Amino acid sequence: MIKMLIDSDYQTLKKMANPIKKPFVICDLDVLKTNLERVGEDLRKKNKKMRLCTKSVRVPEIVKYAEEQDFINGLFNYNSAEALFYAQEYRIRDILIGYPIMSELDAEEACKAASYENVEITVIVDNTHHVDLLEKYCNKNGVHLKLLVELDVSYRFFGMHLGVLRSPLRTPDDVISLARYIDDSNNVSFRGIMGYEAQNASVGDNKFLYRWLKKRSREFVNEHRATVVNELEREGFECEVVNGGGSGCYQETASEEVITEIGIGSLLFKSHIFDSIHSLNHFDPSLFFVLEIVRKPKNDVTTAFSGGYTSSGSDPAIPKPVIPHNIKTIKFEEFGEVQTPFKFNPDHIHLHLGDPIFCRFGKAGEPLEHFNEVNIFEDGKITGTYKTYRGLGKRFS
Ligand SMILES: Cc1ncc(COP(=O)(O)O)c(C=O)c1O
Repeated sequence: MIKMLIDSDYQTLKKMANPIKKPFVICDLDVLKTNLERVGEDLRKKNKKMRLCTKSVRVPEIVKYAEEQDFINGLFNYNSAEALFYAQEYRIRDILIGYPIMSELDAEEACKAASYENVEITVIVDNTHHVDLLEKYCNKNGVHLKLLVELDVSYRFFGMHLGVLRSPLRTPDDVISLARYIDDSNNVSFRGIMGYEAQNASVGDNKFLYRWLKKRSREFVNEHRATVVNELEREGFECEVVNGGGSGCYQETASEEVITEIGIGSLLFKSHIFDSIHSLNHFDPSLFFVLEIVRKPKNDVTTAFSGGYTSSGSDPAIPKPVIPHNIKTIKFEEFGEVQTPFKFNPDHIHLHLGDPIFCRFGKAGEPLEHFNEVNIFEDGKITGTYKTYRGLGKRFS
């Protein structure tokens, strides 16, 4: 049995947090490893692989640990600079640059990453301009890049567009025509397709309408991706990689026959936006940030320093206080850049100036840009620190 931070009593955590300068981040590494292994158990049964979405982790030592697991194909990087970092520092064998490149500087960087021995770089494309740029720079640098064509797998329902607005490629013909274009190039080659079903991956199960739409969307995505892969194969294009995603629907994506791998990142930390997804109930939170109480404006309100570590999106993922239990943020103020007030019942909880408040991020990864290091919690105690991208002086986003 592992001693989970989330189940630890407040007095113990208070003692542990006392000497550390706040705000700080702490990762329950035992829980993170268990979360990862749970994904592995599911994927091994289905004979599918995971590709680690590094933007949702941003801690190279954790990325490296995950990448070494037998069910992980490689990395799903944010951009060419991040890919170059993992090629240079860690010689990661299989790196996918998961979003298109449209600048010469970035193309140069991707080629530099591909020039490392035993490192293979794949890039997402969805039009001929992407291909032309990469072909030109591969030729100039004497390297080869593989390409994944991004398929639009958004679900259209009565005029609504459910899913991300990224690739314009919707039909088998759209994808086949770009695959042919790639095939006519000399320095880049077709490796397969990627389609990210965000409408399934990042929507909770807490409303009947959401569950219903997710079910309809799943039926559509399964059939759509299978049709495209089958048509590609009929035209002679073998899909070595068929990537779908992500954390919030990985079991369903893995059940799709044509899928070879799933892009997953945030589930390692089980950020709280995933709490309302039933299929992830057996995953536990592994990443927390800790604030310090600096004021007591009222008998039942205490105010901590800092806290505004939200993640971007139309509905920004706001953090949530978790320890001590039963404290709440204040609706009209919420987590603030410099001050965060919490309401509590003074008959049940005693909070003093200087006490810590443990919180969970809404979606992990992005908020780690505020921190230089992550404290590592193992077997009930802090055993060290890992540097974040920021701590290493790196900025990729
Ligand atoms: C293309 C793609 N695949 C997969 C994911 C899943 O990432 P995560 O598991 O961190 O939610 C994302 C997240 O934005 C993505 O953009």
